[in-house]
Amino acid sequence: MARIELVVDGARVADDVEPRMLLVHYLRESLGKTGTVIGCDTSNCGACTVHLDGKSVKSCNILAVQADGCEVTTIEGLATDGQLHPVQEAFHECHALQCGYCTPGMIMQSVDLLRDNPDPSEEEIRLGLEGNLCRCTGYHNIVRAVQTAAGSSGAAANAGASDSAGGTR
Ligand code: FES
Ligand code: FES
Repeated sequence: MARIELVVDGARVADDVEPRMLLVHYLRESLGKTGTVIGCDTSNCGACTVHLDGKSVKSCNILAVQADGCEVTTIEGLATDGQLHPVQEAFHECHALQCGYCTPGMIMQSVDLLRDNPDPSEEEIRLGLEGNLCRCTGYHNIVRAVQTAAGSSGAAANAGASDSAGGTR
């Protein structure tokens, strides 16, 4: 077992974990963060996307021990003081989900995308989300939601404030 200490959604946690345990399994099984979902076993779908020290990562693609000393934000830590993050609001407003399975990862990746590029073109949005798959193929409204979030005042600022800057790993 290996000792890890990290901050998850603002709360400090310490645990002994198997060195081979994936971060997504640690979040879901040890911390009960089931908002972060598993959609594949090939690191392709992006449903498990979280932020690790402000950078979006596929949490099925890294080990829990690699998050030792880091700050992790999941979809469950995105809202503040009961207020949805502007990107969450935009997904709701634009009906950017069907079954909703891809939605946590799509939102986490979109927040990161807007932090890096607060005013993306449609092509830049589609490229920025290419690592996230929607099996319901609801891409049109997802792109619209990201455009809406980009256009809403404070979205970019909030995206930058929620955690520090980053990109996809
Ligand atoms: S569950 Fe991580 S990429 Fe699919
Ligand atoms: S809404 Fe069903 S997988 Fe995207």
